Amino acid sequence: MENPKNLIIIIFGASGDLASRKLIPAIFSLKSQKLLPEKYAILGVGRTRLTTEEFRTKMSEAIVSFSEEKVSDQNLISEFTQSLYYHASDSYSETGFLELKTYLSDLDNKYGIGGNYIFYMATPPNMYETIAVNLAGSGLSNQTDGFRRLIIEKPFGYDLESSRKLNKKLHEIILEDQIFRIDHYLGKETVQNLLVTRFANGIFEPLWNRNYIDRIEITSAENMGVGDRGGYYDTSGALRDMVQNHLLQMVGMTAMEPPSSMDADAIRNEVLKVFQSLQPIREEDVPNQVIRGQYTASLIRGECVAGYRYEKGVTIDSRTETYVAIKFFINNWRWGGVPFYMRTGKRLPTRVTEIVIHFKQTPHHLFRREAGKLSTNELIIRIQPDEGILLKFDMKEPGAGFNVKNVKMDFHYSDLANIKLTSAYERLLHDVMLGDSTLFSRDDEVETAWKFLEPIQKAWANSPAIKMYGYPAGTWGPRQANELIEGDGLTWRYPCKNLADEELYCEL
Ligand code: BG6
Repeated sequence: MENPKNLIIIIFGASGDLASRKLIPAIFSLKSQKLLPEKYAILGVGRTRLTTEEFRTKMSEAIVSFSEEKVSDQNLISEFTQSLYYHASDSYSETGFLELKTYLSDLDNKYGIGGNYIFYMATPPNMYETIAVNLAGSGLSNQTDGFRRLIIEKPFGYDLESSRKLNKKLHEIILEDQIFRIDHYLGKETVQNLLVTRFANGIFEPLWNRNYIDRIEITSAENMGVGDRGGYYDTSGALRDMVQNHLLQMVGMTAMEPPSSMDADAIRNEVLKVFQSLQPIREEDVPNQVIRGQYTASLIRGECVAGYRYEKGVTIDSRTETYVAIKFFINNWRWGGVPFYMRTGKRLPTRVTEIVIHFKQTPHHLFRREAGKLSTNELIIRIQPDEGILLKFDMKEPGAGFNVKNVKMDFHYSDLANIKLTSAYERLLHDVMLGDSTLFSRDDEVETAWKFLEPIQKAWANSPAIKMYGYPAGTWGPRQANELIEGDGLTWRYPCKNLADEELYCEL
């Protein structure tokens, strides 16, 4: 794989969780795979008063605790942490940025970098604009001496208007191709494999349309609650936190037309077209097409689990949804009339993300099958865990007659010996170093995704009568979400940790 040019990564909000849990372990992993440039430095910037030495110690502990693979090479950790620096800044003010500029230029000279900088905004979202404006004001985003790239974490805005405003502001000061809006789902190997499954195999694509597909189901379930992120989550909720970005990007990859090439814009144009074709959900249809829920206290495996409203940082009368299920359509030639059902939630029975393609039944049922069972061909694309693909199809039961049984054929990534699935952040950070924006959301994609959700946000804000349903922690969400799909004579798939299993509460 290509090695990037010499560079400095500047992480704003470096004393926070994201830096220690994801970013630094990911950069370290790139180092251990020899994917970092010959010369590099990482500069943490934050309000917390830390010395460079303290930052190095904290980050070397983080590498041991949070790396996806066990790390035991202390020499490599020490060598890596020698390139970490910390600059405490009282505020992200103009003067603060001039000081930062001097600090950076000293660091650049010390390493002989040549002016290539990546700025990572790992701060609360309300800081993005201020940081960008001050970067521009201090001349730090100016690309005359090297490249200057800006990575922006999600959420990018909190609705259509705020995302437009943020895009507008950014475009006044920097170029779109300097901006990398991160959606870590796009960094997942299995999400990228969706493209390969669809467009590298001649057998799927001819069936991938309204003539052969009955419906598509997308689930992203988490078994954890909001943990110590209650303060952030209570201002966000599942719609903003998961649907606007991760789930819609998976819809885009599943439903897009074949791109003309693997070029960043060719792919993103096709995803954008899917978003533009999403049938708008009218405000008055929200109660019928969108179900929201919030987890309540429960007993999980003998342990008392608090309800959402009792989590740290959450208000006691919160109306923030921790679960959302949506039925929607895509209005184009490929998908017209095919329902898409998507759901996501916290405190569900297990952690699983998958896309289920349900194919249509055969036009005529010739064979006898188990009582009540109809023929089902399903292709399950498992994003996580037990990453892989499962195909369900009918076979003859051995013996007399023509009895039919549904069987499963599965591929698990774990069967590929010696292949490590790179973490999403590793892949995405490396792509930014190389300047490849294929796996990053473009301005128009983000705004169009918000536009689709706008009527839902408005309906919830304007009509307090739209119910927020409770569901006991550890269950598959509110009963009403089942009715959403049962009304169409269907049921959700209840996935388990293992790709091939399904059962309502198999993990309990
Ligand atoms: C983040 C959300 O973007 O994605 C979290 O803010 C969520 O609330 C997380 O838990 C899920 O990511 P993953 O990779 O664990 O599925």
